[in-house]
Amino acid sequence: MAKPIFVLNGPNLNLLGTREPDIYGHETLADVETLARERAQSHGHRIEFRQTNHEGELVTWIQDARDQAAALVINPAGYTHTSVAVHDALKMLEIPVIELHLSNPHKREPFRHRSFVSSAATGIVAGLGPKGYGIAVDAVAALLD
Ligand code: DQA
Repeated sequence: MAKPIFVLNGPNLNLLGTREPDIYGHETLADVETLARERAQSHGHRIEFRQTNHEGELVTWIQDARDQAAALVINPAGYTHTSVAVHDALKMLEIPVIELHLSNPHKREPFRHRSFVSSAATGIVAGLGPKGYGIAVDAVAALLD
């Protein structure tokens, strides 16, 4: 069986829908999971969708992606701007990696303008709200074709 596309989510994204909805929208993490899953199926792929509030767990999942995933979509949330460990784990991957953000961090506070992830990513999807999850899956499907 073909490997799944990993869709990994970092801290506070479990509260999507109630968390600052003016910035992140009203759709829940379950809603964006459904969107990503349906979009992957439409391209003949399946996804492994996970969320954690813990940096080490996110690092372990990125390591898992080395031999278990066809591609990785990752919204590292706050760890985008802080985590050398997430950066180092991503650098070990030899599969397409899409950095994903609901908001556009470059339109926000200066501390969000630095990403430890972008230099280890194949591409970036940001500022498109929940729809970005579907667009990121479209992007990896195109890269895998
Ligand atoms: C986010 C943007 C980050 O700056 C923030 O810390 C998040 C969510 C986004 O999806 O827009 O938690 O990654």
